[in-house]
Amino acid sequence: MLQTCIFPAAGYGTRFLPATKALPKEMLPILTKPLIHYGVDEALEAGMDNMGFVTGRGKRALEDYFDISYELEHQISGTKKEHLLSEIRSLIHRCTFTFTRQNEMRGLGDAVLKGKPLTSDESFGVILADDLCVNEEGLNVMAQMVKIYEKYRCTIISVMEVPKNQVSNYGIINGNFVEEDLIMVHSMVEKPNPKEAPSNLAIIGRYILTPDIFGILENTKAGKNGEIQLTDALLTQATNNMVLAYKFKGKRFDCGSVEGFVEATNYFYKKSLC
Ligand code: UTP
Repeated sequence: MLQTCIFPAAGYGTRFLPATKALPKEMLPILTKPLIHYGVDEALEAGMDNMGFVTGRGKRALEDYFDISYELEHQISGTKKEHLLSEIRSLIHRCTFTFTRQNEMRGLGDAVLKGKPLTSDESFGVILADDLCVNEEGLNVMAQMVKIYEKYRCTIISVMEVPKNQVSNYGIINGNFVEEDLIMVHSMVEKPNPKEAPSNLAIIGRYILTPDIFGILENTKAGKNGEIQLTDALLTQATNNMVLAYKFKGKRFDCGSVEGFVEATNYFYKKSLC
């Protein structure tokens, strides 16, 4: 039912400099697969096959990754290395990939707005590939959110509990529980200081957004750091309509930080040995 997933990927990834000077953060590999590949796998498993990327300067490698490399394929065809490309080849054949650019880094809200032409006026998923999510028991995080969307037909955001001293790294929500693990959002604040945080429920990089978000984003003024904050637009949407926050099942690695990236690498390495 939900066909499109948007991947905002225009950020500079300064925490990974100098690597990200010439390489998109989303192309950093966890073992042999780049972060973006994990994100696309998750969207596809959740039923979405129209992948829309919001990129920026220096991100051409993302387009090349989701294209066929004839020279390379020809080189390894018939050799024992051929299987190394089979997974990405099958992914390429099962999805369509569209790219647009965010010319200026004006925040996540602006990046999502730039994805509007890729969404055909329907609700859509959003995955921040630097948040790598896994669930060993059952549906992946986006697929869990799709199930909730099918029931409530409103914007769904994913949240997790974080230690109080980390709330200033996240958008933080508060509201009323409508089901176990599902909260109707009443308030939302971007990177609050711990004393002012309405809770310790932090928004992570998985969203299902209804298309009215675009009109709201168009009218959202730049907030913290002069950026158009998706959190501000979501709060307006929660006031006009209904926004549900879902405490997902599974684990999230913050691969936008070196520590989280190493943690994810160790996790997948251990898994590959089993
Ligand atoms: P981050 O806050 O992690 O920023 O953005 P960043 O630039 O990627 O990384 P650092 O902090 O400099 O190391 C969260 C997500 O939002 C996207 C990023 O690509 C990332 O997936 N984003 C952010 C945009 O696409 N455009 C923006 O203007 C801002």
